[in-house]
Amino acid sequence: MKIAVPKETRAGERRVALVPESCKKLVQAGFAVAVESGAGLSAHYLDDAYRQAGATVETDPAGLLGSADFICKVNAPAVGGSAGRNEVARNEVAWMRPGAFFLASLMPLRNFEAVTALAERKISAFSTDAIPRTTRAQAMDTLSSMASISGYKGVLLAADALNKYFPMLTTAAGMVFPAKVFVIGAAVAGLQAIATARRLGANVFATDVRPEVKEQIESVGAKYVGIELKQDAAAGGGYAKELSEEDKLRQREMLVEQCAVSDVVITTALIGGVFAPRLVTAAMVARMQPGAVLVDLAAEGGGNCELSKPGETVDANGVSILAPLNLPATMPTHASLLFSRNLTAFLLAFTKEKAFVLDQTDDIQQGALITHDGAVVSMRVRDAIQQQGKAS
Ligand code: NAI
Repeated sequence: MKIAVPKETRAGERRVALVPESCKKLVQAGFAVAVESGAGLSAHYLDDAYRQAGATVETDPAGLLGSADFICKVNAPAVGGSAGRNEVARNEVAWMRPGAFFLASLMPLRNFEAVTALAERKISAFSTDAIPRTTRAQAMDTLSSMASISGYKGVLLAADALNKYFPMLTTAAGMVFPAKVFVIGAAVAGLQAIATARRLGANVFATDVRPEVKEQIESVGAKYVGIELKQDAAAGGGYAKELSEEDKLRQREMLVEQCAVSDVVITTALIGGVFAPRLVTAAMVARMQPGAVLVDLAAEGGGNCELSKPGETVDANGVSILAPLNLPATMPTHASLLFSRNLTAFLLAFTKEKAFVLDQTDDIQQGALITHDGAVVSMRVRDAIQQQGKAS
């Protein structure tokens, strides 16, 4: 069974889906692995390292994808032959062989065009971000690996943009107090942001709407701030749902106070793991101290701050609002290594007699399978595509 790894095409992407360490494991498990020449270059994994790991290196991407049984990518495939969000104009889906498997962080609810094209091409496409958040699936969870990088890098960006020290310092010129950091949303990215800000010596406060998170916030060294919710905000599976209007208003009062006294605000809140609720309003930013920094880590989902411009930095009366996109791509060596280990765990969990075996009764495969046999089989994605069709 041939696994193919094409070069990523999305603008600014520097990760690669499989690194040599994983190729070696997959070759040992009986797969043939082929990578597109230069696929790992921007993450510092060179063609020679792939060859030494037992993979072959191919220069023609159309031939590579057309001859593959299983394709691994970081992002959704390029479709339509137009560049769009991509740096390179390619129609990867049209190059794929009907019946082949595809595995990537497809983000199906944000990439309807790619999902539809994969279904029409009769590709069995798995999305790693739809893998259920269970103990058995933990090693395959790219969302967690990448969110952790975002939380870490988000704090480094904040520390760089802040005109103050993070730690408390006692110097010959007197003492400086530690920076005050406020983290909104404390799941994987938020907890890593707290831990990183603590390591840098900041005084950290954090909030979330799921009650079980209080203990987790405290376990990584932050102080919990929150409101008593009138309605439960847990949506199951560890995800949050949108707050009631009454709770939103009460949360807003708390956020105004906390943002006003913080040097740094890091926002990571998502609803259902996809969409970013607007939590920090322009009025809240107006009450922040000049020189304060807000890093909106939910920019890919539209942003938690009303003033965020995804991919840009905005100055709002002396408050810097950063809304970085694709932070994992800024740390491509480790991001690729972890992503690649996640994909390899998925592949090897379902390998029998040197081949990947489709098993739609398995809960992990069932959750992750988005398209199969000419149809969109994920109900959530199918419904969302139909809704969009009705709206347009
Ligand atoms: P996420 O990216 O979907 O959401 C981030 C956080 O924002 C969540 O904690 C959510 O409660 C919070 N949030 C939403 N609305 C908010 C509001 N109005 N104000 C403040 N905070 C708000 O979260 P992620 O990192 O994808 O994790 C989702 C769940 O999955 C968590 O419960 C996590 O512990 C769990 N998980 C389980 C894994 C496993 O068992 N394999 C692996 C990774 C995560």
